[in-house]
Amino acid sequence: MELPSPEETPGLDELWRSLLPLGYCTASGGYRRFAWNKADLACRAWFTAQATDRGLTVRTDRNGNQWAWWAEQLPGRALAIGSHLDSVPDGGAFDGPLGVVSSFAALDLLREAGWQPDRPIAIANFADEEGARFGVACAGSRLLTGQLAPDQARALTDEDGVTLAAAMEAAGQDPAAIGPDEELLGRLGQYVELHIEQGRALVDVGRPVGVATSIWPHGRWRFEFGGEANHAGTTRLEDRRDPMLTYAYTVLAARKKAQAHGALATFGRISVEPNATNAIPSKVNAWLDGRAPDEATLRALLADLEEAARERAGRDGASLSVVNESLTPVVEFDHALRDQLSKTLDEAPVLPTGAGHDAGILSARIPTAMLFVRNPSGVSHSPAEQAEMADCRAGVHALARAVSELAGDPAQLGVAW
Ligand code: GLV
Ligand code: MN
Ligand code: MN
Repeated sequence: MELPSPEETPGLDELWRSLLPLGYCTASGGYRRFAWNKADLACRAWFTAQATDRGLTVRTDRNGNQWAWWAEQLPGRALAIGSHLDSVPDGGAFDGPLGVVSSFAALDLLREAGWQPDRPIAIANFADEEGARFGVACAGSRLLTGQLAPDQARALTDEDGVTLAAAMEAAGQDPAAIGPDEELLGRLGQYVELHIEQGRALVDVGRPVGVATSIWPHGRWRFEFGGEANHAGTTRLEDRRDPMLTYAYTVLAARKKAQAHGALATFGRISVEPNATNAIPSKVNAWLDGRAPDEATLRALLADLEEAARERAGRDGASLSVVNESLTPVVEFDHALRDQLSKTLDEAPVLPTGAGHDAGILSARIPTAMLFVRNPSGVSHSPAEQAEMADCRAGVHALARAVSELAGDPAQLGVAW
């Protein structure tokens, strides 16, 4: 029996067809699947249905991550595969879902070929990877591995004032139970996450699938600029304390400092109070996403930027406070696993990334690796995110090959790797 060719990926089209409508916004052409909202719950129900159809046992862990188990009764620590189904606001179809869909499709391929694992296999759907609603990315995997304090997580609040605890409770998930889960971690041996590439490195080398080497350190900071609300038509310019000016200056400074440090800095979200066209704002909250090749550079970037913003706040009569909301250190994926996967996949190219992933969070506890699937435009976190179906099929095939080698005997497939 042989693994079918990449063109034959049973069920892949059907998996996509059933998932694509969930959380799709016709006005923007993007997805609005935010942790525990209606669209996210529909995706979670989809995950359960796909797993159940395949005779897998579905369990939701204490932190809301979903796990679909194959051959759970086998001895040994499981090979986990999967990704996430939530999205950024108006995100694309592939960031996250490609990994989950490919995991089910890879399992279908292996089973069609009659392959059997010799240790358990689990497909994961990690909760709240993007942090779009409550602000902390990878909340599910951070809680699982003890990298986010349960009290802090429960108190996270969305823009309507709903806490994560309340949102979980409304979805039938007990918020009192969240926190590190040693029992589950003890059952996991490795995690391999397939993901759309968020860049164009694979286009440049002309390959459909690559293997990740590392993730840049990154974090999120809330800049709170305070001023004085006043009438836009009657307040003289010299009498104003306008925090929007300080914010505007800080955005430009972030770009300059990022350039100078060889780093990345993005203000992608703000909230303004009172948010009236004819009033000087009393407050501007702005969230900075900062990323750099190493932690010292990231720290230096933030220190420089904060100093510039404070100096400007002084000139504007504004106040400034800066709160770090999350910080992820540099991640080096497991070298042995990375090299093994690259070799298995015909010397697949290895590449670093600036994007965060649950595989990065889990790497603190178990060996993890990532497979990237070519993205022709390199665009991600946008409705324009895209992958060719032929490359998605190549990704499924690569994942199936990886699973067959890591969790059993690839010789069962009669293929010489
Ligand atoms: C997740 O996609 C991130 O890098 O923010
Ligand atoms: Mn993402
Ligand atoms: Mn992702």
